[in-house]
Amino acid sequence: MVTEYTATARAHSNIAFIKYWGNREPGIRLPANSSLSMNLAALHSTTRVTWSEALAEDSLMINEQPAAPAAFLRVRAHLDTLREELGSTLYADVASKNNFPMGAGIASSASAFAALTVAATIALGLRLPERELSALARRGSGSAARSIPAGFVEWRAGGADKESYAETIASPDYWPLEDVIAVISPDHKHVGSTAGHASANTSILQRARVESAADRLESAKQSVLARDFEALAPVVEEDSNLMHAVMMTSKPSLFYWLPKSLRIMLAVREWRHQGLQVCYTLDAGPNVHCICGAEDAAAVAARVKELDSDIEVIRSSVGGGAQIMNVNDRIG
Ligand code: PMV
Repeated sequence: MVTEYTATARAHSNIAFIKYWGNREPGIRLPANSSLSMNLAALHSTTRVTWSEALAEDSLMINEQPAAPAAFLRVRAHLDTLREELGSTLYADVASKNNFPMGAGIASSASAFAALTVAATIALGLRLPERELSALARRGSGSAARSIPAGFVEWRAGGADKESYAETIASPDYWPLEDVIAVISPDHKHVGSTAGHASANTSILQRARVESAADRLESAKQSVLARDFEALAPVVEEDSNLMHAVMMTSKPSLFYWLPKSLRIMLAVREWRHQGLQVCYTLDAGPNVHCICGAEDAAAVAARVKELDSDIEVIRSSVGGGAQIMNVNDRIG
């Protein structure tokens, strides 16, 4: 008789207003600074985990294809962490689907590792508190910690593994912002964020960025809580610029921006001066996330298309937290 424990979970991607870049302890992804983000309702990963006594090794399918070796090794390492933390010796079949392009600077690792962590724990019959799920998801991908709680989320860096988790600061319906993403290139990024984090300290600017991050986070947090777009916009752009300044001055230097990215960033500033509620932020990729007041999102999407009709635009409102889709134990 073989026992299988299966569960499916869904988690949303998130976009950081205050970025996480660089680790204090890379092995367990303890971040150099705290960060702040908003979940993206339109972008999600749905992941099914089956732990089974019949398996002799782990396996991973992504979007119905066998995963590339690098993705498989990263997921297997996270399954090792989960086995160790949850006290299991079973292997797992993992099948994950994203509804958005992978590795394009839209954090597929955040939603993927959050969904994997929830499905894996639920399948084993464990209903862990949100903080523990967030800290566990963080071990797979730092930003995944922020895809566990709902809405607007703060991840406090913390001084130790169990203290480094994310929590909601405001629910998804607290402030109807939208992310209008200008997808400049859906290709896989040239240097992934794990390698990027590892090089952050080679920039002389990283120390200044980290030392000043708490002030920016407090300012961004108060702006979100006050629903004050005018106050939020400059700090979001400054924080993104600072992270990219660190990336560009690391050794070797990392340039994620493309000429089209800069064109949109400059246009966004212009549109804001003209009265639209919009500001930009970029992750480890060339796509420009235009954070908008909901009433201006359609106009911003139209203007991006006017600038360059080849650019695909994805719009997303504020998303909820990771959720369980299905639980199904099979004994056969
Ligand atoms: O979770 P990771 O290791 O992919 O790091 C994400 C880093 C950025 O997306 C660039 C910034 C952030 O805070 O999301």
